[in-house]
Amino acid sequence: MTDLTGQSVLVIGGGKNLGLAIARKAAALGATVTIGVRSAQDAAGDEFRVVALDITDEDSIAAAAAELGTIDHIVSTAAAHHNVAVADLDKAATVTAFDAKVVGPLLVAKHFDVTGSIVLFSGVAAWQPSPGYAVMGITNGAVAFAVAALAKELAPVRVNAISPGIIDSGTYDAMPDADREAFFAGVAQGNLAGRVGRTEDIVDAVAWLWGAGFVSGETIHVEGGARAA
Ligand SMILES: NC(=O)c1ccc[n+]([C@@H]2O[C@H](COP(=O)([O-])OP(=O)(O)OC[C@H]3O[C@@H](n4cnc5c(N)ncnc54)[C@H](OP(=O)(O)O)[C@@H]3O)[C@@H](O)[C@H]2O)c1
Repeated sequence: MTDLTGQSVLVIGGGKNLGLAIARKAAALGATVTIGVRSAQDAAGDEFRVVALDITDEDSIAAAAAELGTIDHIVSTAAAHHNVAVADLDKAATVTAFDAKVVGPLLVAKHFDVTGSIVLFSGVAAWQPSPGYAVMGITNGAVAFAVAALAKELAPVRVNAISPGIIDSGTYDAMPDADREAFFAGVAQGNLAGRVGRTEDIVDAVAWLWGAGFVSGETIHVEGGARAA
């Protein structure tokens, strides 16, 4: 079990869903945890130190870096999906999607003084192209290249990505129950594990990466074997 006693962890997007669960895991492993959120009214604010951080805004990133100083581990779960057909692409929403997943993490690497590791979030859509999900697929794919490039340049800081399959993380809670159950049943049929992903599947992988001192530049696929199904 990774021991983060005496270490600091910043989780960008730590206000809900996977980010919140990752922040709670870091705290359980002994870390001093800060969550970076766009809205200071975030519900998790009473559990953790909170820093205002909009990953699509370089000034916001720079201000958070100056406020927090040296950090041992940074995780970013931030995403701004733009799931439309190519014919319906909106330029601004497309750029924001890249800002959240690709440009923003590069600027986090630029501004923050990190000593241990950075974990970014890719996603299975990069490896399973589907109409209506081009931006999601391309941004998630770019994350895999980003961690390889950043790992080389920032070494010995380790930079890796998690590529989740479909995870019952809370992000699908707004769907009507019957639709969500049908969606998850389809997901279970489309991977080797025969089930939808659980939040702890991802949290455990991030916790392993925090302590995996010989792993850098990798994208870890936590997707129940979806690409092989
Ligand atoms: N869940 C899945 O099935 C799945 C599958 C593949 C990949 N992933 C990836 O895994 C990551 C986490 O998934 P999730 O289910 O927890 O996603 P989520 O529910 O969409 O959460 C995304 C988090 O990012 C934050 N965020 C969005 N834009 C931001 C910005 N500009 N600056 C700072 N924070 C921002 C959100 O905060 P707000 O409250 O401010 O919106 C939220 O806390 C995402 O990158 C997602 O693409 C998830």
